[in-house]
Amino acid sequence: MEMKPYAVPQISKDVYWVGVKDWNRRLFDALIPLPQGTTYNAYLVKGKEKSALIDTVNPGFEQELVGKIEQVMKPGDLDYLIMNHAEPDHAGSIPCIMELAKKATLVATEKGAKMAQVFYRVPQERIRTVKEGDTLDLGGKTLRFVDAPWLHWPETMFTYLVENKILFPCDFFGAHTAFGLYDDEVGELIPFAKRYFGEIMMPFRNMGKKAMEKVAGFQIDMIAPSHGPVYKNPERILEVYRSWTAGETRNKAIVVYVSMWGSTEKMIKIVVETLLSEGVEVCLYNVANADLGEIAKDLVDARAVVLGVPTVLGGMHPVGLHGANLVKALRPPLKYGVVVSSYGWGGGALKQAAEILGPTKIEVTGTLEINGPPSAEDQQKLIGIAKQLAAKIRE
Ligand code: FEO
Repeated sequence: MEMKPYAVPQISKDVYWVGVKDWNRRLFDALIPLPQGTTYNAYLVKGKEKSALIDTVNPGFEQELVGKIEQVMKPGDLDYLIMNHAEPDHAGSIPCIMELAKKATLVATEKGAKMAQVFYRVPQERIRTVKEGDTLDLGGKTLRFVDAPWLHWPETMFTYLVENKILFPCDFFGAHTAFGLYDDEVGELIPFAKRYFGEIMMPFRNMGKKAMEKVAGFQIDMIAPSHGPVYKNPERILEVYRSWTAGETRNKAIVVYVSMWGSTEKMIKIVVETLLSEGVEVCLYNVANADLGEIAKDLVDARAVVLGVPTVLGGMHPVGLHGANLVKALRPPLKYGVVVSSYGWGGGALKQAAEILGPTKIEVTGTLEINGPPSAEDQQKLIGIAKQLAAKIRE
């Protein structure tokens, strides 16, 4: 067998990392920037009798995955392929592995099994469905399955390797970075994990909380997610996830705005200066040039949002609309909001913003729509709106 120059670290006894690093990927889901690329982690567990591959890798990296498995065993001898999640970044190489390993059985939840048939054309007779608490004995290695739906698709599950005390939660606890293999090798890991949580898991944080309660009684020595480094120190990520899934917010406002000729920006600056003078932490993003991942990160624990968007063509400026839709879609734990807007000859942005924020749980504590740049009277109004918001944030 030809040996390829691949790194296949043994992360625990008879457990191998056979994932790949996508150093150059810069966008995920055609939406999320990836400044440090990402990883598609896959893990090979060798029992005395059987072997299991936990998740696969993004399409295009099949040969690298196969080459890594080859360093441990013949890929054709694989017994099980565990599919924790059906999204192509982890499941996209299933057809390749199932073709190579002719006797392998795909293991998934009932919903996952249906997706495997539709997305990856895996025949029903090659799939074993598992439910909460089911186990799979590999010979001295026991895989236990934990039903963990909606993290972040309906079919998701976790796999727990009982003897090694490793939790394989797929996307949950992940981070989009190709840097490092273990958590203690990456300096800025938690901000990357937070950004990832905001982008992927925040809309499902109640389901995340439930899943964490399920595994609270497990002894977990290692967390091996499908993106980013493996946690040798699981408490590091568990602690922040307890707070993030609980929707705990800080004395903090996130400002998301766009401005065409500077009038909306002048309004925003008055609000920002007032919030700062009232002791509120402020983070500010101009959607026209912001990294959406950073906005997602700061939405994880901000208590209030300030939205600034001018009227153009009778409604919200399209870039501001994108920002507002993002704030709504990610379902952050925001409690309060303020919307300010300037128009040239006719309003409309404020009405549209109210329609977007209306169905959310955000209490809009102040709005102001003005014609052109803010007058002295407008400035006083903006200071009042900001002071009122600061009082709400501090409550
Ligand atoms: Fe990383 Fe939902 O796939």
